[in-house]
Amino acid sequence: MADKDFLLAIDGVRATYKHAITALHGVSLTVGHGEIVALLGANGAGKTTTLKGISNLLPAERGQITAGSIKFDGSDVSAISPADLVRSGLVQVLEGRHCFRSLTVEENLITGGIGRSAKRAEIADDLENIYAYFPRLKEKRRTLSGLTSGGEQQMTAIGRALMSRPRLLVLDEPSMGLAPLIVQDIFKTLRRLNRETGLAILVAEQNSTVALKYADRATILENGVAVLSGAADELRDNEDIKNFYLGQKTVSFAAPAPVRPAPAVAI
Ligand SMILES: Nc1ncnc2c1ncn2[C@@H]1O[C@H](COP(=O)(O)OP(=O)(O)OP(=O)(O)O)[C@@H](O)[C@H]1O
Ligand SMILES: [Mg+2]
Repeated sequence: MADKDFLLAIDGVRATYKHAITALHGVSLTVGHGEIVALLGANGAGKTTTLKGISNLLPAERGQITAGSIKFDGSDVSAISPADLVRSGLVQVLEGRHCFRSLTVEENLITGGIGRSAKRAEIADDLENIYAYFPRLKEKRRTLSGLTSGGEQQMTAIGRALMSRPRLLVLDEPSMGLAPLIVQDIFKTLRRLNRETGLAILVAEQNSTVALKYADRATILENGVAVLSGAADELRDNEDIKNFYLGQKTVSFAAPAPVRPAPAVAI
């Protein structure tokens, strides 16, 4: 298929930080219209780097794509500013569920609509739509985000991204630090959004069990290389893949894993 047939086409991407550290050595993956694709890999495999490349956010981290291409809807993302990519429908929820802690949940959501200069009535409609998918957010609409749980903050971050009316929603480890039931709840809602609205989703996850349960296809990264792609149900049934690539048993990685404190479990 030609690149234009995919909503997102990543081909042979290499990326470095500070012209010194090579984080991606050859990553290729595609997301078709209406698909959910999981990007799996252990700590330091290159998931976030890939996602930042997709939203053209690497230059802000002194990173750069040195080879290959990333095309969204047929256009090379490296020629489009991150803000324009959002306007064109490529919206990302960054790792670590960023919310404005001193704004209410509803105010946080509204900030997502302002980005596309939406009219008041449109914002009201979109809010109701998001509350239908995330009833917890409706209950907490007047609560300061800083006072809501980790799960509610992740839902707020996703809801704010939806306010930009994405065609491709990119999520970086939405399960991180959340209790299993909340993680299931979030993934079920993402699947519903995908089924009911046709929203395409690319989700990076270390939690391969949940990601493979809800995705259509998956690509596995190891040390900055896309080593395997396939249908999620086939990968799900293959224990060797989990053991070998996804750090769920003994795996040795040449790249040093980034130091990160163990996330607290929150509901
Ligand atoms: N800003 C940065 N500057 C230099 N090196 C970086 C930077 N960000 C990431 N790296 C390195 O790039 C490699 C890939 O990191 P990346 O964050 O993309 O992995 P990841 O798969 O998202 O890991 P995690 O599951 O821990 O989030 C690692 O070796 C990491 O140390
Ligand atoms: Mg990451």
